[in-house]
Amino acid sequence: MLEFRNISFRYTQDESPMMENLSFLVEAGAFVSVIGASGCGKSTIFRLINGLETPDTGEILVDGKPISALKQYSAFMPQKDLLFPWRSIEKNICLPMELQGVPMAEQTRRCQQVLEQVGLSGYGKKYPKDLSGGMKQRVAFARTLLSGADMLLLDEPFSALDYLTRVEMQEWLLHQWESTGKTILFITHDVEEAVFLSKTIFVIQERPFSAMEQVEVPLGYPRNRSDLKRQEVVELKEQLIGRLRKGVNL
Ligand SMILES: Nc1ncnc2c1ncn2[C@@H]1O[C@H](COP(=O)(O)OP(=O)(O)OP(=O)(O)O)[C@@H](O)[C@H]1O
Ligand SMILES: [Mg+2]
Repeated sequence: MLEFRNISFRYTQDESPMMENLSFLVEAGAFVSVIGASGCGKSTIFRLINGLETPDTGEILVDGKPISALKQYSAFMPQKDLLFPWRSIEKNICLPMELQGVPMAEQTRRCQQVLEQVGLSGYGKKYPKDLSGGMKQRVAFARTLLSGADMLLLDEPFSALDYLTRVEMQEWLLHQWESTGKTILFITHDVEEAVFLSKTIFVIQERPFSAMEQVEVPLGYPRNRSDLKRQEVVELKEQLIGRLRKGVNL
């Protein structure tokens, strides 16, 4: 469903390119994580996918079509929830629809539906300050779902949460992924998180990069946290940490 074809990209103020001749494929319905040292270009990949940056050469295709010819093929969820504190949860969720001029009754209907889907029905009239960190990320996820896009780009969505909330959110996200059938691209610094969630992990090891190593996680779904203790999974985690450390220049 997503294809990078010979993508090269350099930020204008940078001397060296970020990526050169990068090609990769992500299948529809996949759960793919991207890991790599800080500054290696993970978020840049998302910026290219959602059209915030344009490649210097090459093409990005979704379902075989260049993204310039498409609308609403991807939806982005940032690290911080970015909810407006002065708007209720409902009003936060409805904001994109408001901007698109969706009729009020339809806004309310879709908002209720998505709140229910993320397990927050009854929270529409509350304000962001009334919700825990995990709940706020669920609201942000609901807003991402509402865009209707089939591909969700989640950029370190749980990194600001405490450990236990993060663990719960990971299980929650897998459940959402399984029930919605969306394609998820997930950026994380946390190797264990990548292993627990993903079918496939893309590893960025150097800069500029012209390929990402593609690692298949040897686990099916549904997953259980105890799977992380399996010998082959422990070894995979160690290998990935080793590879990431090679890319860190202290
Ligand atoms: N909007 C931008 N404009 C110009 N340069 C940018 C921009 N965003 C990123 N860069 C440059 O690209 C480099 C890598 O950026 P990117 O955000 O893709 O890395 P990352 O792998 O997501 O890092 P992190 O793990 O810290 O989030 C940055 O160090 C910066 O020099
Ligand atoms: Mg980033």
